[in-house]
Amino acid sequence: MADKATQEAKVLKLCEEINTLLTVNESGAWKAGDLLVKASAIKVGGKTLTLKQLREKYLPNFAISYLSQLRSTAEALPPAKRKKHLKKGVTWHECEIARRSRNHCIKAEVATKEDSLDDYIDYVHINKGKTLSPKKLMRDRINAATVDNRKTRALQVEQLKKEYPNWMNNCHNLSCLDVLEKLEKESIDVVYADPPYAAFFKNENRKCAEPESKGLETACDSSTIDMALPLTLDIIRQAAKVLKPNGKLVLFQASTEPDRPEVISLLRELGLGTIFPMYWKKSQPQPSDFAIPFSHETERILIAGRNRKAFQGFYNGKGRTDVLDDNVIANALQYNMEYEKQPVSRSFYREVQRGERKYGDRHFFEKPVDICKFLLEKLTFEDDTVIDVCGCTGSMIEACIELNRRWIYCESNETNYNLGVSRIGEVMERVAGIKPEDDDASVSA
Ligand SMILES: C[S@@+](CC[C@H](N)C(=O)[O-])C[C@H]1O[C@@H](n2cnc3c(N)ncnc32)[C@H](O)[C@@H]1O
Repeated sequence: MADKATQEAKVLKLCEEINTLLTVNESGAWKAGDLLVKASAIKVGGKTLTLKQLREKYLPNFAISYLSQLRSTAEALPPAKRKKHLKKGVTWHECEIARRSRNHCIKAEVATKEDSLDDYIDYVHINKGKTLSPKKLMRDRINAATVDNRKTRALQVEQLKKEYPNWMNNCHNLSCLDVLEKLEKESIDVVYADPPYAAFFKNENRKCAEPESKGLETACDSSTIDMALPLTLDIIRQAAKVLKPNGKLVLFQASTEPDRPEVISLLRELGLGTIFPMYWKKSQPQPSDFAIPFSHETERILIAGRNRKAFQGFYNGKGRTDVLDDNVIANALQYNMEYEKQPVSRSFYREVQRGERKYGDRHFFEKPVDICKFLLEKLTFEDDTVIDVCGCTGSMIEACIELNRRWIYCESNETNYNLGVSRIGEVMERVAGIKPEDDDASVSA
């Protein structure tokens, strides 16, 4: 009992000191943190006191979250480690922001536990004029990594252009309308169009993290309300010209606005009125507008041809359904669920950690390659020609290369073009036997 009393007296004494330090002198945070670490280590009656007990009994003037921060920062930076920072004039508050930011990064899987706290502290100290919160700091770090990666990627693309001029002629950093206009009439088997849909991020009731904060690219041309629909209609007009008699248009629809009357009537008017609507069930509902009782879990894909004949003879024995979900695709293509199920996925961060991907390598609009392959196998044969008019990350082109289809890639946005082209370059190298300059996928543009 006596021992318990002595131990309690020790805790009490330390807590009195903490009270004085924090009440009288705010700059005593470091010292208070150290004393809290000490007080929490003392065993009273064989047990150490929890922070909650310490606070209730001895430190009622302070919020538990504040005490917890004091203690955690003191633990993360014991006196010997903090010395060099203090020499540079770093404050306890800056160290605290840095520590919490590092925790956020680790939780979001954009940093590992091996990441040095010192880097975070230096960053906060250098930027001390700005208002920094731990989460903002995390976003800054991701953005910085993304910008660096964009620069590297642009250099790689320049190099690829020099090495493979012929092959690169099939990747067009142009508006698809300019490319479509130059193509021969009735020369294409599939026009694949995943156009931008307007105002995707403008919903104020949307309750989920902005994709940029997860290191995902969101660049997109023609994404305003007055541009998105006219572009889709122009693509349909051009597709009607360049498609072979049995050719098909694959048109992704906005999940919030499927089957717009302008789209359907133009397809009919231009003789592409045989339409098979498909649903891609993403297995990951989008939070979208929380004021509305429904969320969007599917995206609609219209597959339009001139007549039923255009679709006959293409059945490959796999999944005759209009729902593309994990089951269908898994059966048909050994769908890699872990990687492809969620275009916006945590697995991305793991890939970053393993050094297989870099920030900015993923785009918010990226479609899974297996969806592309699935569609290709239903609509084309080997050596058929596919044009991806809104190419972005190049997922359809990856599918084309793997399934031996000829291809044309168009993307007007430079950031996305660089993303797509460097991926296509990697795929060309990965798929054995295909050397860019040997490939005769040269549909003249
Ligand atoms: C929804 S994303 C396509 C995503 C793509 N299917 C993928 O899996 O990566 C639409 C893309 O179309 C591009 N775009 C917009 N207008 C365009 C145009 N006139 N010509 C070519 N690309 C365009 C945007 O910059 C954006 O990258």
